Amino acid sequence: MNTYTCIKTYIPKPGIGIVQLHRPEVLNALSLQTMIEIVDALQYFDNQSDIRCMIIHGSDKAFAAGADITEMSDAGTIDMLERDQFSRWEKIRLLKKPLIGAISGYALGGGCELAMHCDMLIASETAQFGQPEINLGVMPGAGGTQRLTRIVGKAQAMEMALTGRMISAYEAWRLGLVNRVVPVSGYLQEAIALATEIASKAPIAIRLIKESVLKSYSTTLEAGLEFERKNFYMLFASEDQKEGMKAFIEKRKPTWNNS
Ligand code: CAA
Repeated sequence: MNTYTCIKTYIPKPGIGIVQLHRPEVLNALSLQTMIEIVDALQYFDNQSDIRCMIIHGSDKAFAAGADITEMSDAGTIDMLERDQFSRWEKIRLLKKPLIGAISGYALGGGCELAMHCDMLIASETAQFGQPEINLGVMPGAGGTQRLTRIVGKAQAMEMALTGRMISAYEAWRLGLVNRVVPVSGYLQEAIALATEIASKAPIAIRLIKESVLKSYSTTLEAGLEFERKNFYMLFASEDQKEGMKAFIEKRKPTWNNS
């Protein structure tokens, strides 16, 4: 694994790879370098056969307060086009293994958009989500008008992006943005517990479930149902399907071997 300056990586227990944003002096603002490192570390974990699930988190005070405003303030259109820093996040969308966001404190602008790249979100009671770009005279540029709208619906996405107002963790839960809200003392443990449970399941099925759920965002219902059906049939070529069904019949726990 490469050495990083803006993030930390660790493996709290076998099978779980964690990326922690680490720029506390700027509330984990997402500089270009930070974005490069996040993608690099997640891709590294994604390609390790012994890693089954990934988590990304920041600090208790801030998941990420958005793109690094200082770095962008003097940029022109051509600079932004050449940097094209947000297109690299497409690589996060293409990760094969589940990614859980453990969110505490500010998740604003690019921070909220990074959170929405995750497959599931555990929020602490202090988490606040928002798209405040309007207050800087710009607009969301990494999914805040697209992913947010698909998750919370048009009216809520419009209000968040047009006012820049933040919503609380409980409001985010009510709107379906996060899976659950837990005390700040336990959000990371809760994310690790969820990752551990997922990591104990059949790996190939996990991969196809993730692909199939994400497919529903980019295709028609008919094509999505066909994609799902074919993936379901494909799993009958795996040893884990034979083992899973045999174990059920024999009333024992299955042993997955990822094949
Ligand atoms: N970029 C660069 N620096 C940032 C930052 C950001 N997004 N957010 C916070 N910081 C820095 C502050 O400048 C400050 O640095 P100094 O100590 O050197 O002054 C430090 O982090 C602490 O911040 P505050 O003193 O402001 O802390 P606070 O608790 O009073 O306020 C806050 C917290 C409400 C999050 C406030 O910092 C804030 O509004 N930040 C900006 C949020 C924002 O507008 N994000 C969107 C960025 S644009 C974007 O993300 C584009 C996109 O979608 C693609």
